[in-house]
Amino acid sequence: MPPRHIAHLHNRTKQRHVTVKAENMKMAKGKISTPEVKLRVESISLSFGGVQALADVSFEVRNPEILAIIGPNGAGKTCLLNCISGFYKPQKGMIYYGDKKIVGLPPYRISSIGISRTFQNIQLYSGMTTVDNLMAARHMHIKPNLFSSSIYFGPTHRREIEHRKAVERIIDFLELEPIRKKVVGMLPYGQRKKIDLARALAQEPQLLLLDEPMAGMNYEEKEDMARYILDIADLRKIPIVLVEHDMGVVMDISDRVVVLDFGQKIAEGTPDVIKVNPKVISAYLGDAAI
Ligand SMILES: Nc1ncnc2c1ncn2[C@@H]1O[C@H](COP(=O)(O)OP(=O)(O)OP(=O)(O)O)[C@@H](O)[C@H]1O
Ligand SMILES: [Mg+2]
Repeated sequence: MPPRHIAHLHNRTKQRHVTVKAENMKMAKGKISTPEVKLRVESISLSFGGVQALADVSFEVRNPEILAIIGPNGAGKTCLLNCISGFYKPQKGMIYYGDKKIVGLPPYRISSIGISRTFQNIQLYSGMTTVDNLMAARHMHIKPNLFSSSIYFGPTHRREIEHRKAVERIIDFLELEPIRKKVVGMLPYGQRKKIDLARALAQEPQLLLLDEPMAGMNYEEKEDMARYILDIADLRKIPIVLVEHDMGVVMDISDRVVVLDFGQKIAEGTPDVIKVNPKVISAYLGDAAI
């Protein structure tokens, strides 16, 4: 029985799981040369003084998939996203984006090669409007060269029009029209979460990392966010790494799940397998949770 609050998404996610499974089977049969591994995390460890935030964690993100990272508070989920996006540098281990080693690259370089993220504690310009936040995200991300930007007409003008069009597409897609001109700092939390997702999309990601995109949201907002995440995966055809505490959402929309506990990976598999894993149940879900 699907979790009640996103039950109407169940058929759609079931269909999606079938498609992802079929892709993997085609790959296994050699119809597609190799499964595309978009990101590979290899034995990374990170500690802060005596706190071992991540201990020898390895996993991969495939394309297509929605990969959920779950675990109790303090398990190391945000640290993991921080290592992938360049905010933290693990003391040990390696991270590959395609064939490229990305450990040690600064966050702006990592976002410029295609990895965008949202933040557990929303990171927006709170004094600016929704549209201006999205335009700023594009301008910071897609930089023209100094010569062409010194002349407004011609390429710079055309690029500006392209940025505006891209921002308008995101506003339409995430249904932000009613708040496009609103100052972000004045908006309710759920709407700011949505704008944070829009900001990440404005950077044209090839891999999207979401850190608790539904935290603090009400019932309808969570439903909408689950739908947007499925739409992004389907329409943009990019893999998504989803850190989320709402087990109903995780089990319903993710293709695979990685479970962390005290910085260690304790399980990995499809939602159906994870749901019944005794280690996961005792570490995180609790007997009553499923
Ligand atoms: N900058 C830091 N300095 C010191 N300790 C840190 C730092 N960042 C994270 N930690 C510690 O690393 C551990 C993992 O933290 P992390 O934020 O990754 O947990 P989490 O799984 O995201 O938890 P939550 O579900 O509460 O967001 C925690 O013990 C945390 O206190
Ligand atoms: Mg966190």
